[in-house]
Amino acid sequence: MNNKQRVAVFGILSSICVVFSGSVFAASLSDMAKECDECHGSNGNSTDDKVPSIAGFSESSMVDMMEQYKAGDRPADKYKPSGGEETDMQVIAKDMSDKDINAISAHYAKQTFKPIKQDFDAVAAKRGAEVHDKLCEKCHSEGGANADDDAAILAGQWRGYLERQFALITSGERETTKKMKKKMKKVKDEDIQPLIEFYISKQ
Ligand code: HEC
Ligand code: HEC
Repeated sequence: MNNKQRVAVFGILSSICVVFSGSVFAASLSDMAKECDECHGSNGNSTDDKVPSIAGFSESSMVDMMEQYKAGDRPADKYKPSGGEETDMQVIAKDMSDKDINAISAHYAKQTFKPIKQDFDAVAAKRGAEVHDKLCEKCHSEGGANADDDAAILAGQWRGYLERQFALITSGERETTKKMKKKMKKVKDEDIQPLIEFYISKQ
């Protein structure tokens, strides 16, 4: 082999390596996303009332949420997808490296959140809008639809999921930021359901 041939062979080998390692990474990300989609729906748009849609969440908010589950700081509900195994978000996040969490969060941030079509109480939603504008819009702007606030997407989320999280947050079982806690304390019990009706009315 002369020098020119050597360079050529090296070039071919290294390009094979790049393609190979590239495809290995892509396969593991897509395997991971497939697992998440089993519960969270195709590309993170959920078809089950108990499971939130996660498509279009900001990358950094999703990293924070996964870290909360991983550290055991956020309670997680057991869930069994049809044909799959029962598990929960704490168990799932514990098995993930920081690199996995960053990669999967970037993946869902690129998907499009599709507001869920659900029935709602229009009168209650109107009352909810007033409470929201006064206490929540500052951090959950555009009626809770703006992912760039890094505070999840509330608008067009599933009713069952929101009801469960409101219960966990108001009881203190799910920790949240000091500032949000303060605002939540100002919400009267009878205004919780109107707030939920308001968020799901945004379809
Ligand atoms: C076995 C079903 C299941 C699987 C698999 C699953 N999740 Fe979840 N996930 C849930 C359920 C149920 C909730 C809501 C209740 C809770 O907090 O436990 C949830 C909540 C979340 C939340 C919080 C959303 C919010 O609005 O606060 C994020 C983020 C999330 N999952 C990301 C993921 C990612 C990323 C994967 C894949 C690595 C994944 N999930 C796999 C069932 C699942
Ligand atoms: C100072 C900013 C701030 C204010 C004000 C605020 N929130 Fe939040 N909220 C956040 C942040 C940040 C998160 C995400 C972090 C977390 O998981 O606690 C969040 C998360 C939530 C969640 C959980 C969503 C999910 O899917 O995980 C709900 C529900 C919620 N907020 C409702 C409200 C309501 C209702 C109000 C008004 C009464 C309100 N928030 C006021 C910052 C705020």
